[in-house]
Amino acid sequence: MTTRDMPAASPAPGPEPHAPGRHEFGPDFLWGCATSSYQIEGAADADGRVESIWDRFAATPGTIRDGSSGRVACDHYHRWPEDLDIGRDLGLSAYRFSIAWPRIFDGTSRAPNEKGLDFYSRLVDGMLERGLQPWATLYHWDLPQWLQDRGGWADRATVGAFVDLADALTRRLGDRVKHWITHNEPWCTAILGNYEGWHAPGIKDLRTALQVAHHVLLSHGQAVPVIRANVPDARVGISLSLHPLRPASESARDLAAMERHDGLRYRWFLDPLYGRGYPAATLAQLGDAVPVVLPGDLDVIAAPTDFLGVNYYFPETVADAPGHGPLDTRILPAQGETTAMGWPVAPQGLSELLARIARDYPCGSLYVTENGACYDDVVADDGAVRDVARRRYLMRHLAALRQAVADGVPVRGYFAWSLLDNFEWAEGYTRRFGLVHVDYATQQRRLKDSAAWYRAFLRADVD
Ligand code: FCB
Repeated sequence: MTTRDMPAASPAPGPEPHAPGRHEFGPDFLWGCATSSYQIEGAADADGRVESIWDRFAATPGTIRDGSSGRVACDHYHRWPEDLDIGRDLGLSAYRFSIAWPRIFDGTSRAPNEKGLDFYSRLVDGMLERGLQPWATLYHWDLPQWLQDRGGWADRATVGAFVDLADALTRRLGDRVKHWITHNEPWCTAILGNYEGWHAPGIKDLRTALQVAHHVLLSHGQAVPVIRANVPDARVGISLSLHPLRPASESARDLAAMERHDGLRYRWFLDPLYGRGYPAATLAQLGDAVPVVLPGDLDVIAAPTDFLGVNYYFPETVADAPGHGPLDTRILPAQGETTAMGWPVAPQGLSELLARIARDYPCGSLYVTENGACYDDVVADDGAVRDVARRRYLMRHLAALRQAVADGVPVRGYFAWSLLDNFEWAEGYTRRFGLVHVDYATQQRRLKDSAAWYRAFLRADVD
């Protein structure tokens, strides 16, 4: 996710927040951390992995803030036992990871790459041995470059290729992995990757982006029954990045702009997933850029799911801006407290967002599949990383989550983003989101103070 027009600022000091205790969420509430393949694995050429769109994009000058790539990243491909040990020692009950598609299909053979499947099989066994429930995301943005060369997500054939991926993975892992997330943040895949061009594959074309969004949703809908057929007791869902919205002012123009933005940012994904098709007003506003939708597609997209994953980072303030973006809207720079990403810190936005979704859609259970903050962490001489701001962020967001639970919103789990510092897409290694610090020169992992707090919370040492 990139918000380059937001100035970075430091967090506002304040009194120590009152954090909830774990018991306030009930015994079945799931507590995890999330990561994704390209951001942590490295081992770009190991065991038959082929090039991904992020390898190609990162090799293009000017795309990544520090000129880096995920070729080595956290070397998790080789160091995963240590990383899972950390997850176990924190007391996590679940771990969300993603599959690198380029490790599974190389574009020359219809058969999956056994070495790639073996890696994820070992990883899943490692989770189970440590008491971590595996939550697998099939697509967290690392499309094989060979598929992009054939048109990528804008080409309908990629839908079938994704179903092949879902089939291969669920056949191999479905005896042990019961929780499956088809896609991570389709808005980012479509808009950041194919309209704004900040993310791979770096295309800047609205029509392409909207066709990509449609095919991503279609691939989700086609994969759901395949996952269910291979894993009879599967729980299947999708993770969306969602923002509560505020109007820049109470003027009719800003209020209308907020509605337009909501149509593409929120309802464009949620409405078809829950059987309502694309929002009519947004379709009209997008004009010629609307995607080709074949008969039956919308029924496929609306395949019943078991849960919705919500990735929450910050609210957006929307202003009317004629001539700006596809819908004449603009997101205003953040005011007040922000993270080092320049993203507003607004814990109450989490409870507000979850309540809205549960009110608007029959989503079954909700899981916060990502939430976290980036700060400029410093390793002190004594080796400690005193990330007070991240600890406070976590405490305040868990308090908002507790509020949602108390209000009866069916939210059943929380995954902090992220277990480890990692390759933050177009921001490279300049942005640290981890509860665990990674020294990229030595690959040394160090628990930050936020991780120590999460561990105490999970062990019910804090009330
Ligand atoms: C989300 C992405 C995740 C990470 C966080 C900060 O949009 O899903 O990979 O980059 O933002």
